[in-house]
Amino acid sequence: VRKEIVFVKVSDIKRVLILGAGTMGRQIAFLCAMHGYQVILYDLSQDILDAALGRIGELNRRFVLQGSIDPDEPGKITARITCTTDPSEAAKDADLVSESLPEDPELKARVFAQFDGLCPDRTIFTTNTSLLVPSMFADRTGRPEKLVALHFHDVRTTNVVDVMPHPGSSPQVVELVRDFARSLGQTVIMLERENSGYVFNAMLTSLFSSALTLASNGVASVEDIDRAWMGVMNTPMGPFGIMDQVGISTVWIITDYWAQQKGDAQGAANAAFLKQYVDKGLLGAKTKKGFYEYPNPSYNAPDFITRNTETNTNLQG
Ligand SMILES: NC(=O)c1ccc[n+]([C@@H]2O[C@H](COP(=O)([O-])OP(=O)(O)OC[C@H]3O[C@@H](n4cnc5c(N)ncnc54)[C@H](O)[C@@H]3O)[C@@H](O)[C@H]2O)c1
Repeated sequence: VRKEIVFVKVSDIKRVLILGAGTMGRQIAFLCAMHGYQVILYDLSQDILDAALGRIGELNRRFVLQGSIDPDEPGKITARITCTTDPSEAAKDADLVSESLPEDPELKARVFAQFDGLCPDRTIFTTNTSLLVPSMFADRTGRPEKLVALHFHDVRTTNVVDVMPHPGSSPQVVELVRDFARSLGQTVIMLERENSGYVFNAMLTSLFSSALTLASNGVASVEDIDRAWMGVMNTPMGPFGIMDQVGISTVWIITDYWAQQKGDAQGAANAAFLKQYVDKGLLGAKTKKGFYEYPNPSYNAPDFITRNTETNTNLQG
């Protein structure tokens, strides 16, 4: 072990460095600051950091409105967050790094290697990757024993995280990362071994794949597939409603990627089915149209389960 592990307890962690201030980095920055950590938010441009701070302001307001934080908290939370585009400044005195860079193993490896040279020896590295596994770039980080995946879901609506070591992670570091996640009020799903997609996303991917196979093979309509799931499971949304929330282009990219990796013909048919929506700009809730139309999707109607007469019209015309 090149760099000694010096942390013995989670209270030794004071400063968290967030690499990448995009969709997830800003949420994680907010969550850490909300739980009292000093946060350094690092990205390539000041514009991105300014946008991130704007978004953190919105998160503050949302959390006040839902009663999760007191009205006097937002000022304190924002004051704990420092933004910088200077890597040395960012790395100085960081106790734990949370990486939310784009989903590219080469880029993650390169930036981790850069920060290995800049961070103190004690700094723990965590990655928020969705589908990669840490062993893909562990050696390139220069401190494989201090690398663990700490994967967040949408912090606005859930507090479940995955903690996933790779074979070279130090058990002591894994425990610290688990305790750190708990200190953020998160429920920790502990993986015993590496698995692409962790636990929840692995199940969700299978659900999406089954639903897409049914639809692309013309077995049942999008609405009836959702109706079956919702009617039996008593959930407010079915698989296609969930895909609209995730974003159809995101689901398409992942489906297409794995179909190509595995040479899977059904996966390719599922990707082609999704691509029809992507090509028409029907990306889901964020574009107000996807499998359903928003803000009032038909699955929200009280009689959606009992009324099964409509057909999905978004792809026609
Ligand atoms: N979006 C989600 O719902 C979600 C959920 C869980 C995990 N993740 C994972 O989190 C990671 C980030 O996803 P995201 O959706 O936040 O991506 P994003 O594209 O919104 O943000 C990535 C950020 O990284 C910055 N960046 C790129 N290269 C950089 C570099 N060399 N140095 C510093 N910053 C750099 C970009 O400017 C951008 O702001 C990915 O690995 C993704 O798989 C995403």
